Amino acid sequence: MKEKLLALKEEAFALIENASDKKGLQDVKVKYLGKKGPITEVLRGMGKLSKDERPVIGALANEIRQAIELVIEQKQTKLQEELIQAQLESETIDVTLPGKSIKTGNAHPLTSIIEEIEDLFIGLGFSIAEGPEVEQDYYNFEALNLPKDHPARDMQDSFYITNEILLRTHTSPVQVRTMKKHQGKGPVKIICPGKVYRRDTDDATHSHQFMQIEGLYVDKKVRLSDLKGILTVFAKKMFGEDRDIRLRPSFFPFTEPSVEMDISCFKCGGHGCSVCKHTGWIEILGSGMVHPNVLEMAGFDSTVYSGFAFGMGPERIAMLKYGIDDIRHFYTDDVRFLEQFKRA
Ligand code: DAH
Repeated sequence: MKEKLLALKEEAFALIENASDKKGLQDVKVKYLGKKGPITEVLRGMGKLSKDERPVIGALANEIRQAIELVIEQKQTKLQEELIQAQLESETIDVTLPGKSIKTGNAHPLTSIIEEIEDLFIGLGFSIAEGPEVEQDYYNFEALNLPKDHPARDMQDSFYITNEILLRTHTSPVQVRTMKKHQGKGPVKIICPGKVYRRDTDDATHSHQFMQIEGLYVDKKVRLSDLKGILTVFAKKMFGEDRDIRLRPSFFPFTEPSVEMDISCFKCGGHGCSVCKHTGWIEILGSGMVHPNVLEMAGFDSTVYSGFAFGMGPERIAMLKYGIDDIRHFYTDDVRFLEQFKRA
């Protein structure tokens, strides 16, 4: 009997030692200590033993029972610890790994250029005016001295919505709208940035939708020399203090005289290079003295008031300034392009 009990103990210990999880331990416990287990069976059969043997075997059986319980408990603790350890190892945080950087956006290069130009003109006493992109033929053409049959309308192939309504082809209609608001009283000193639309086929230098910035200064005794002064300041601030400007005669129906402004090439300083097409000069904008007809139609007395106006393309300015070779880059949203304009 004694040998049998001791053998059971060895057997149980071995199984416990080999148990790899909670479930295995539980099985050993049920098998050896359960109601139908061999030890219980020994205890049950005590009646058949002699008086002398009974206490010895009983004590031994209890001792073994307790020993098995203890070893199971110890093993359970050990398994639990191993489990925690394994978990810790598998879930370690490598603090030396580089973090995931948060993607930050940046201002679109056109937005930056427009803001720079706005700031510059605000510094010269201009304020910002805006107007609708869906415009009446009257403001877009008629009131700018471009009657219905005027051939210059062809210069600005338009998206018409009805006979009288179109997508504005330039920001010049904002001149008219602003002057009308002033009801014949100067000064009017504004710039108007905004989107414009033309029926052009997109290529490296054309886009069916682009930006313009219009400028207008109307007051008593505004002269061409004022225009020249303002544009010189603009050219120097945008393209460097060494810039010279020149005004070339041109034609726009809404100005008389009309001029086009060139700046001396900022790349070669005027000697001639690929940027200025070997002329030393770069064409920047159109401008002129507001045509008396335009002043009159907008409610200003052209014998008292005079003014200058100009219109420029921020895309062209940004392309020149940053060496961008294709206008479509502004509108195709390639982050690799846009990210280059992130401010440090
Ligand atoms: N509106 C003209 C265009 O889109 C640009 C322009 C030229 C505006 C001369 C002006 C100006 O105000 O005086 O081509």
